[in-house]
Amino acid sequence: MSIFRTKNLDAMLAAGAKPGGLKKVLGPTDLVLMGIGAIVGTGIFVLTGTGAVTAGPALTISFVVAALACCFAALCYAEFASTVPVAGSIYTYSYATLGELVAWMIGWDLLLEYGLATSTVAVGWSGYFQSLLAGFGITLPAALSAAPGAREGVETFFNLPAFLIMMVLTGMLSLGMRESARANNVMVVIKIAVVLLFIAVGVGHVKPDNWQPFMPFGAGSVMSAAALVFFAFIGFDAVTSAAEEVKNPARDLPIGIIGSLAVCAILYVVVAAIMTGIVPYMDFKGVDHPVSLALQVAGEDWVAGFVDLAAILGMSTVILVMAYGQTRILFAMSRDGLLPAKLSTVHPKYGTPFFATWLVGIIFGLIAAVVPLNVLAELVNIGTLAAFTLVSIAVIVLRKKRPDLPRAFRCPAVPLVPILAIIFCVALMSFLSWHTWLAFGIWLAIGVAVYFGYARQRSLLNKAG
Ligand code: ALA
Repeated sequence: MSIFRTKNLDAMLAAGAKPGGLKKVLGPTDLVLMGIGAIVGTGIFVLTGTGAVTAGPALTISFVVAALACCFAALCYAEFASTVPVAGSIYTYSYATLGELVAWMIGWDLLLEYGLATSTVAVGWSGYFQSLLAGFGITLPAALSAAPGAREGVETFFNLPAFLIMMVLTGMLSLGMRESARANNVMVVIKIAVVLLFIAVGVGHVKPDNWQPFMPFGAGSVMSAAALVFFAFIGFDAVTSAAEEVKNPARDLPIGIIGSLAVCAILYVVVAAIMTGIVPYMDFKGVDHPVSLALQVAGEDWVAGFVDLAAILGMSTVILVMAYGQTRILFAMSRDGLLPAKLSTVHPKYGTPFFATWLVGIIFGLIAAVVPLNVLAELVNIGTLAAFTLVSIAVIVLRKKRPDLPRAFRCPAVPLVPILAIIFCVALMSFLSWHTWLAFGIWLAIGVAVYFGYARQRSLLNKAG
Protein backbone atom coordinates (compact mmCIF):
# COMPACT_ATOMS: atom_id res chain seq x y z
CA MET A 1 0.00 0.00 0.00
CA SER A 2 1.64 3.23 -1.15
CA ILE A 3 0.28 5.31 1.72
CA PHE A 4 2.41 3.23 4.08
CA ARG A 5 5.61 3.56 2.03
CA THR A 6 8.53 4.79 4.11
CA LYS A 7 11.66 6.72 3.24
CA ASN A 8 14.96 4.97 3.40
CA LEU A 9 16.62 6.17 6.59
CA ASP A 10 20.17 5.50 5.47
CA ALA A 11 19.69 7.42 2.23
CA MET A 12 18.18 10.31 4.20
CA LEU A 13 21.13 10.46 6.54
CA ALA A 14 23.49 10.49 3.57
CA ALA A 15 21.49 13.23 1.80
CA GLY A 16 21.56 15.42 4.92
CA ALA A 17 25.36 15.25 4.93
CA LYS A 18 25.72 16.32 1.29
CA PRO A 19 27.26 19.71 0.52
CA GLY A 20 25.04 22.32 -1.14
CA GLY A 21 22.23 22.02 1.41
CA LEU A 22 21.50 24.40 4.29
CA LYS A 23 24.51 26.02 6.00
CA LYS A 24 25.74 24.31 9.20
CA VAL A 25 26.26 27.13 11.67
CA LEU A 26 24.53 26.24 14.97
CA GLY A 27 26.17 24.94 18.17
CA PRO A 28 24.70 23.69 21.50
CA THR A 29 24.47 27.15 23.11
CA ASP A 30 22.63 28.47 20.06
CA LEU A 31 20.19 25.57 20.38
CA VAL A 32 19.44 25.99 24.11
CA LEU A 33 18.92 29.71 23.52
CA MET A 34 16.86 28.95 20.44
CA GLY A 35 14.69 26.61 22.55
CA ILE A 36 14.24 29.20 25.28
CA GLY A 37 13.59 31.74 22.56
CA ALA A 38 10.69 29.65 21.31
CA ILE A 39 9.39 28.72 24.75
CA VAL A 40 9.26 31.81 27.00
CA GLY A 41 6.58 34.07 25.55
CA THR A 42 2.82 34.48 25.49
CA GLY A 43 2.33 31.46 27.73
CA ILE A 44 4.11 32.91 30.74
CA PHE A 45 3.46 36.60 30.03
CA VAL A 46 -0.25 36.43 29.08
CA LEU A 47 -1.88 33.04 29.73
CA THR A 48 -0.78 32.74 33.36
CA GLY A 49 -3.52 35.23 34.27
CA THR A 50 -6.28 33.01 32.86
CA GLY A 51 -4.51 30.00 34.34
CA ALA A 52 -4.54 31.56 37.83
CA VAL A 53 -8.25 32.40 37.55
CA THR A 54 -8.97 28.82 36.40
CA ALA A 55 -6.92 26.85 38.93
CA GLY A 56 -6.10 29.33 41.75
CA PRO A 57 -2.65 29.08 43.35
CA ALA A 58 -2.59 25.41 42.25
CA LEU A 59 -1.55 26.86 38.87
CA THR A 60 1.94 25.83 39.97
CA ILE A 61 0.73 22.20 39.83
CA SER A 62 -0.74 22.82 36.37
CA PHE A 63 2.69 23.97 35.21
CA VAL A 64 4.25 20.84 36.69
CA VAL A 65 1.71 18.59 34.89
CA ALA A 66 2.28 20.37 31.57
CA ALA A 67 6.05 20.23 32.10
CA LEU A 68 5.92 16.49 32.79
CA ALA A 69 3.99 15.89 29.57
CA CYS A 70 6.60 17.91 27.67
CA CYS A 71 9.48 16.23 29.48
CA PHE A 72 8.40 12.71 28.51
CA ALA A 73 7.76 13.86 24.94
CA ALA A 74 11.10 15.72 24.91
CA LEU A 75 12.99 12.54 25.79
CA CYS A 76 11.36 10.85 22.78
CA TYR A 77 12.12 13.87 20.60
CA ALA A 78 15.72 13.88 21.70
CA GLU A 79 16.21 10.26 20.72
CA PHE A 80 14.77 10.87 17.27
CA ALA A 81 16.62 14.11 16.81
CA SER A 82 19.95 12.51 17.58
CA THR A 83 19.22 9.54 15.33
CA VAL A 84 17.76 11.29 12.30
CA PRO A 85 19.34 14.75 12.19
CA VAL A 86 17.64 15.85 8.99
CA ALA A 87 15.51 19.01 8.56
CA GLY A 88 11.79 18.63 9.08
CA SER A 89 11.37 17.62 12.70
CA ILE A 90 9.00 14.75 13.45
CA TYR A 91 7.58 14.94 9.96
CA THR A 92 10.84 13.50 8.68
CA TYR A 93 11.18 10.98 11.50
CA SER A 94 7.71 9.63 10.95
CA TYR A 95 8.28 9.38 7.19
CA ALA A 96 11.00 6.88 7.97
CA THR A 97 8.95 4.92 10.49
CA LEU A 98 5.18 5.25 10.23
CA GLY A 99 4.79 5.71 6.47
CA GLU A 100 3.95 8.50 4.06
CA LEU A 101 0.34 9.21 5.00
CA VAL A 102 1.07 9.54 8.71
CA ALA A 103 4.14 11.66 7.91
CA TRP A 104 2.05 13.91 5.69
CA MET A 105 -0.60 14.32 8.38
CA ILE A 106 2.04 15.16 10.97
CA GLY A 107 3.67 17.69 8.64
CA TRP A 108 0.24 19.18 7.92
CA ASP A 109 -0.47 19.32 11.66
CA LEU A 110 2.88 21.03 12.36
CA LEU A 111 2.28 23.64 9.65
CA LEU A 112 -0.89 24.58 11.53
CA GLU A 113 0.79 24.46 14.94
CA TYR A 114 3.77 26.63 14.04
CA GLY A 115 1.82 28.94 11.75
CA LEU A 116 -0.99 29.72 14.16
CA ALA A 117 1.49 29.94 17.03
CA THR A 118 3.31 32.74 15.18
CA SER A 119 0.00 34.50 14.52
CA THR A 120 -1.20 34.07 18.11
CA VAL A 121 2.02 35.34 19.60
CA ALA A 122 2.12 38.27 17.14
CA VAL A 123 -1.31 39.33 18.43
CA GLY A 124 -0.04 39.08 22.04
CA TRP A 125 3.04 41.08 21.03
CA SER A 126 0.83 43.76 19.51
CA GLY A 127 -1.11 44.12 22.77
CA TYR A 128 2.05 44.62 24.85
CA PHE A 129 3.57 46.91 22.22
CA GLN A 130 0.49 49.12 22.17
CA SER A 131 0.49 49.30 25.95
CA LEU A 132 4.15 50.35 25.86
CA LEU A 133 3.32 53.03 23.25
CA ALA A 134 0.48 54.19 25.49
CA GLY A 135 3.09 54.76 28.21
CA PHE A 136 4.64 57.34 25.87
CA GLY A 137 1.23 58.86 25.11
CA ILE A 138 0.97 57.32 21.63
CA THR A 139 -2.23 55.54 20.55
CA LEU A 140 -2.91 53.94 17.19
CA PRO A 141 -6.16 54.64 15.34
CA ALA A 142 -8.65 52.03 16.62
CA ALA A 143 -9.14 50.62 13.11
CA LEU A 144 -5.47 49.62 12.92
CA SER A 145 -5.17 48.32 16.48
CA ALA A 146 -6.84 44.90 16.29
CA ALA A 147 -8.59 42.35 14.10
CA PRO A 148 -12.27 42.85 13.17
CA GLY A 149 -14.48 41.97 16.15
CA ALA A 150 -11.55 41.62 18.54
CA ARG A 151 -12.72 44.35 20.92
CA GLU A 152 -16.24 44.64 22.16
CA GLY A 153 -17.90 47.92 21.14
CA VAL A 154 -14.87 49.16 19.12
CA GLU A 155 -14.67 49.25 15.31
CA THR A 156 -11.41 47.44 14.58
CA PHE A 157 -10.20 46.37 11.17
CA PHE A 158 -6.53 45.38 10.89
CA ASN A 159 -3.93 44.60 13.57
CA LEU A 160 -1.10 46.64 12.05
CA PRO A 161 1.57 46.05 14.76
CA ALA A 162 0.99 42.27 14.61
CA PHE A 163 1.39 42.32 10.82
CA LEU A 164 4.48 44.55 10.91
CA ILE A 165 6.33 42.48 13.54
CA MET A 166 5.72 39.40 11.40
CA MET A 167 7.21 41.19 8.38
CA VAL A 168 10.28 42.41 10.28
CA LEU A 169 11.05 38.94 11.68
CA THR A 170 10.37 37.28 8.33
CA GLY A 171 12.88 39.64 6.77
CA MET A 172 15.49 38.69 9.36
CA LEU A 173 14.93 34.97 8.84
CA SER A 174 15.07 35.24 5.08
CA LEU A 175 18.46 36.96 5.22
CA GLY A 176 20.20 34.08 6.94
CA MET A 177 20.26 31.88 9.98
CA ARG A 178 23.56 33.06 11.43
CA GLU A 179 22.36 36.63 11.70
CA SER A 180 18.96 35.60 13.08
CA ALA A 181 20.51 33.27 15.64
CA ARG A 182 22.74 36.06 16.88
CA ALA A 183 19.87 38.52 17.24
CA ASN A 184 17.83 35.78 18.91
CA ASN A 185 20.57 35.08 21.44
CA VAL A 186 20.75 38.70 22.55
CA MET A 187 16.98 38.94 22.98
CA VAL A 188 16.80 35.67 24.90
CA VAL A 189 19.47 36.74 27.37
CA ILE A 190 17.58 39.98 28.08
CA LYS A 191 14.33 38.03 28.52
CA ILE A 192 15.82 35.56 30.99
CA ALA A 193 17.51 38.36 32.93
CA VAL A 194 14.20 40.14 33.37
CA VAL A 195 12.37 36.96 34.44
CA LEU A 196 15.10 36.43 37.06
CA LEU A 197 14.69 40.06 38.12
CA PHE A 198 10.95 39.44 38.57
CA ILE A 199 11.72 36.46 40.77
CA ALA A 200 14.33 38.32 42.83
CA VAL A 201 12.14 41.39 43.36
CA GLY A 202 8.80 39.58 43.65
CA VAL A 203 9.78 37.00 46.22
CA GLY A 204 10.01 39.65 48.97
CA HIS A 205 6.39 40.68 48.34
CA VAL A 206 4.80 37.23 48.62
CA LYS A 207 2.04 36.92 51.22
CA PRO A 208 1.59 33.20 51.93
CA ASP A 209 -2.07 33.86 52.85
CA ASN A 210 -2.74 34.40 49.12
CA TRP A 211 -1.89 30.73 48.53
CA GLN A 212 -4.96 29.75 50.60
CA PRO A 213 -7.15 28.05 49.51
CA PHE A 214 -4.54 26.37 47.33
CA MET A 215 -6.90 24.43 45.06
CA PRO A 216 -10.22 26.32 45.21
CA PHE A 217 -11.83 24.68 42.15
CA GLY A 218 -10.68 21.06 42.45
CA ALA A 219 -8.33 18.79 40.53
CA GLY A 220 -10.27 19.13 37.22
CA SER A 221 -9.56 22.86 37.16
CA VAL A 222 -5.87 22.16 37.62
CA MET A 223 -5.96 19.91 34.52
CA SER A 224 -7.93 22.50 32.51
CA ALA A 225 -5.34 25.13 33.41
CA ALA A 226 -2.58 22.66 32.51
CA ALA A 227 -4.16 22.11 29.07
CA LEU A 228 -4.08 25.89 28.56
CA VAL A 229 -0.66 26.77 29.98
CA PHE A 230 0.79 23.86 28.02
CA PHE A 231 1.09 26.59 25.38
CA ALA A 232 3.84 28.11 27.53
CA PHE A 233 6.08 25.07 26.88
CA ILE A 234 5.55 24.78 23.15
CA GLY A 235 8.68 25.55 21.22
CA PHE A 236 11.40 23.19 22.40
CA ASP A 237 10.39 20.89 19.56
CA ALA A 238 11.26 23.64 17.08
CA VAL A 239 14.89 23.03 17.99
CA THR A 240 14.74 19.64 16.29
CA SER A 241 13.65 21.19 13.02
CA ALA A 242 17.03 22.96 12.84
CA ALA A 243 18.85 19.61 12.61
CA GLU A 244 20.47 20.16 9.22
CA GLU A 245 21.97 23.47 10.29
CA VAL A 246 23.60 22.06 13.45
CA LYS A 247 27.35 21.42 13.52
CA ASN A 248 27.19 18.27 15.70
CA PRO A 249 23.53 17.22 15.81
CA ALA A 250 23.98 13.88 17.59
CA ARG A 251 25.28 15.61 20.71
CA ASP A 252 23.90 19.13 20.42
CA LEU A 253 20.23 18.46 19.70
CA PRO A 254 19.48 16.54 22.93
CA ILE A 255 21.31 19.26 24.88
CA GLY A 256 19.22 21.91 23.12
CA ILE A 257 15.86 20.22 23.70
CA ILE A 258 16.22 19.01 27.27
CA GLY A 259 18.29 21.98 28.45
CA SER A 260 15.81 24.59 27.25
CA LEU A 261 12.82 22.67 28.61
CA ALA A 262 14.36 22.20 32.05
CA VAL A 263 15.31 25.88 32.40
CA CYS A 264 11.81 27.00 31.43
CA ALA A 265 9.98 24.48 33.65
CA ILE A 266 11.84 25.73 36.72
CA LEU A 267 11.30 29.40 35.84
CA TYR A 268 7.55 28.93 35.23
CA VAL A 269 6.81 27.13 38.47
CA VAL A 270 8.67 29.80 40.44
CA VAL A 271 7.04 32.67 38.54
CA ALA A 272 3.55 31.16 39.00
CA ALA A 273 4.13 30.68 42.73
CA ILE A 274 5.35 34.26 43.19
CA MET A 275 2.57 35.79 41.07
CA THR A 276 -0.19 34.02 42.97
CA GLY A 277 1.64 34.81 46.22
CA ILE A 278 1.60 38.57 45.53
CA VAL A 279 -1.88 38.96 43.98
CA PRO A 280 -5.08 37.16 45.11
CA TYR A 281 -5.80 34.85 42.15
CA MET A 282 -9.25 36.28 41.29
CA ASP A 283 -7.68 39.69 40.68
CA PHE A 284 -6.12 38.28 37.49
CA LYS A 285 -9.54 38.14 35.81
CA GLY A 286 -9.42 39.83 32.39
CA VAL A 287 -5.78 40.89 32.88
CA ASP A 288 -3.55 40.43 29.81
CA HIS A 289 -0.28 41.44 31.50
CA PRO A 290 -0.43 39.37 34.72
CA VAL A 291 3.31 39.28 35.40
CA SER A 292 3.78 43.03 35.33
CA LEU A 293 0.47 43.49 37.18
CA ALA A 294 1.91 41.52 40.09
CA LEU A 295 4.85 43.93 40.24
CA GLN A 296 2.57 46.96 40.06
CA VAL A 297 0.55 45.57 42.97
CA ALA A 298 3.84 45.12 44.82
CA GLY A 299 4.64 48.79 44.15
CA GLU A 300 7.62 47.95 41.94
CA ASP A 301 6.57 50.00 38.93
CA TRP A 302 10.02 50.34 37.40
CA VAL A 303 10.52 46.55 37.36
CA ALA A 304 7.03 46.22 35.86
CA GLY A 305 8.17 48.47 32.99
CA PHE A 306 11.17 46.22 32.37
CA VAL A 307 8.92 43.18 32.36
CA ASP A 308 6.71 44.77 29.70
CA LEU A 309 9.75 45.42 27.56
CA ALA A 310 11.04 41.88 28.06
CA ALA A 311 7.62 40.48 27.13
CA ILE A 312 7.85 42.34 23.84
CA LEU A 313 11.34 40.99 23.17
CA GLY A 314 10.32 37.55 24.44
CA MET A 315 7.41 37.26 22.10
CA SER A 316 9.56 38.39 19.15
CA THR A 317 11.93 35.49 19.69
CA VAL A 318 9.02 33.05 19.96
CA ILE A 319 7.70 34.20 16.60
CA LEU A 320 11.19 34.00 15.11
CA VAL A 321 11.83 30.40 16.11
CA MET A 322 8.30 29.19 15.29
CA ALA A 323 8.45 30.78 11.84
CA TYR A 324 11.87 29.23 11.36
CA GLY A 325 10.58 25.77 12.30
CA GLN A 326 7.66 26.11 9.96
CA THR A 327 9.72 27.02 6.91
CA ARG A 328 12.03 24.08 7.57
CA ILE A 329 9.08 21.67 7.63
CA LEU A 330 7.78 23.17 4.39
CA PHE A 331 11.30 22.77 3.02
CA ALA A 332 11.41 19.08 3.92
CA MET A 333 7.90 18.31 2.63
CA SER A 334 8.63 20.10 -0.62
CA ARG A 335 11.95 18.33 -1.08
CA ASP A 336 10.07 15.03 -0.78
CA GLY A 337 7.74 16.11 -3.59
CA LEU A 338 4.68 16.35 -1.32
CA LEU A 339 4.48 20.13 -1.76
CA PRO A 340 5.52 22.29 -4.78
CA ALA A 341 9.29 22.31 -5.46
CA LYS A 342 9.50 26.09 -5.24
CA LEU A 343 9.17 25.82 -1.43
CA SER A 344 12.52 24.07 -1.12
CA THR A 345 14.62 26.35 -3.29
CA VAL A 346 17.57 27.73 -1.35
CA HIS A 347 18.61 31.35 -1.95
CA PRO A 348 22.03 31.35 -3.68
CA LYS A 349 23.40 34.18 -1.53
CA TYR A 350 21.71 33.81 1.87
CA GLY A 351 21.52 30.00 1.98
CA THR A 352 17.93 30.12 3.27
CA PRO A 353 14.58 28.93 1.86
CA PHE A 354 13.85 32.55 0.95
CA PHE A 355 10.60 32.05 -0.96
CA ALA A 356 9.01 29.72 1.62
CA THR A 357 10.01 32.07 4.45
CA TRP A 358 8.27 35.04 2.86
CA LEU A 359 5.25 33.02 1.75
CA VAL A 360 4.36 31.76 5.23
CA GLY A 361 5.42 35.05 6.84
CA ILE A 362 2.90 36.96 4.74
CA ILE A 363 0.10 34.39 5.12
CA PHE A 364 0.35 34.12 8.91
CA GLY A 365 1.06 37.84 9.25
CA LEU A 366 -2.28 38.48 7.53
CA ILE A 367 -4.00 35.91 9.75
CA ALA A 368 -2.56 37.70 12.80
CA ALA A 369 -3.84 40.99 11.43
CA VAL A 370 -7.43 40.03 10.62
CA VAL A 371 -8.38 37.09 12.86
CA PRO A 372 -8.97 37.46 16.60
CA LEU A 373 -6.90 34.55 17.85
CA ASN A 374 -7.45 34.29 21.59
CA VAL A 375 -9.25 30.94 21.43
CA LEU A 376 -6.80 29.63 18.85
CA ALA A 377 -4.10 29.15 21.49
CA GLU A 378 -6.12 26.02 22.26
CA LEU A 379 -5.94 24.96 18.63
CA VAL A 380 -2.18 25.29 18.71
CA ASN A 381 -2.17 23.13 21.85
CA ILE A 382 -4.24 20.32 20.35
CA GLY A 383 -2.02 20.23 17.26
CA THR A 384 1.10 20.05 19.36
CA LEU A 385 -0.26 17.41 21.75
CA ALA A 386 -1.26 15.27 18.76
CA ALA A 387 2.24 15.63 17.33
CA PHE A 388 3.83 14.69 20.68
CA THR A 389 1.63 11.61 20.90
CA LEU A 390 2.71 10.50 17.45
CA VAL A 391 6.41 11.02 18.09
CA SER A 392 6.11 8.93 21.25
CA ILE A 393 4.50 6.12 19.26
CA ALA A 394 7.16 6.48 16.60
CA VAL A 395 10.03 6.10 19.05
CA ILE A 396 8.69 2.69 20.05
CA VAL A 397 8.18 1.70 16.40
CA LEU A 398 11.69 2.76 15.39
CA ARG A 399 13.27 0.81 18.26
CA LYS A 400 11.51 -2.31 16.95
CA LYS A 401 12.10 -1.68 13.23
CA ARG A 402 15.68 -0.42 13.39
CA PRO A 403 17.33 -1.52 16.63
CA ASP A 404 20.67 -1.33 14.78
CA LEU A 405 20.68 2.44 14.15
CA PRO A 406 23.30 4.37 16.11
CA ARG A 407 21.48 6.55 18.65
CA ALA A 408 23.61 9.29 20.16
CA PHE A 409 20.87 9.87 22.71
CA ARG A 410 18.63 7.05 23.95
CA CYS A 411 15.30 7.79 25.62
CA PRO A 412 15.43 6.06 29.02
CA ALA A 413 12.99 3.26 29.99
CA VAL A 414 11.43 2.57 26.57
CA PRO A 415 8.50 1.83 26.27
CA LEU A 416 7.56 3.24 29.70
CA VAL A 417 8.57 6.86 29.01
CA PRO A 418 6.91 7.03 25.56
CA ILE A 419 3.76 5.45 27.03
CA LEU A 420 3.74 8.04 29.86
CA ALA A 421 4.14 10.77 27.23
CA ILE A 422 1.13 9.41 25.33
CA ILE A 423 -0.99 9.20 28.50
CA PHE A 424 -0.14 12.75 29.59
CA CYS A 425 -0.73 14.24 26.14
CA VAL A 426 -4.05 12.49 25.57
CA ALA A 427 -5.18 13.46 29.08
CA LEU A 428 -4.41 17.13 28.40
CA MET A 429 -6.16 16.97 25.02
CA SER A 430 -9.29 15.64 26.71
CA PHE A 431 -9.50 18.88 28.71
CA LEU A 432 -9.68 21.07 25.58
CA SER A 433 -13.06 22.32 24.30
CA TRP A 434 -15.15 20.61 21.63
CA HIS A 435 -14.75 23.66 19.36
CA THR A 436 -11.06 23.01 19.37
CA TRP A 437 -11.55 19.32 18.55
CA LEU A 438 -13.93 20.24 15.71
CA ALA A 439 -11.60 22.82 14.15
CA PHE A 440 -8.69 20.42 14.43
CA GLY A 441 -10.75 17.68 12.77
CA ILE A 442 -11.59 20.00 9.85
CA TRP A 443 -7.91 20.90 9.34
CA LEU A 444 -6.96 17.22 9.30
CA ALA A 445 -9.79 16.45 6.84
CA ILE A 446 -8.46 19.13 4.46
CA GLY A 447 -5.03 17.56 4.90
CA VAL A 448 -6.34 14.13 3.85
CA ALA A 449 -7.95 15.69 0.76
CA VAL A 450 -4.73 17.47 -0.28
CA TYR A 451 -2.75 14.29 0.26
CA PHE A 452 -4.94 12.13 -1.96
CA GLY A 453 -5.58 14.96 -4.47
CA TYR A 454 -1.97 16.13 -4.87
CA ALA A 455 0.82 14.93 -2.64
CA ARG A 456 0.48 11.18 -3.12
CA GLN A 457 0.99 11.35 -6.89
CA ARG A 458 3.78 13.94 -6.67
CA SER A 459 5.74 12.16 -3.98
CA LEU A 460 9.34 11.41 -4.93
CA LEU A 461 8.76 7.93 -3.51
CA ASN A 462 5.98 7.51 -6.09
CA LYS A 463 8.35 8.48 -8.91
CA ALA A 464 10.98 6.17 -7.54
CA GLY A 465 8.48 3.39 -8.00
N1 ALA B 1 5.66 28.77 24.35
C1 ALA B 1 5.40 29.85 23.49
C2 ALA B 1 4.79 30.98 24.21
O1 ALA B 1 4.56 30.89 25.39
C3 ALA B 1 4.58 29.43 22.33
O2 ALA B 1 4.55 32.01 23.63
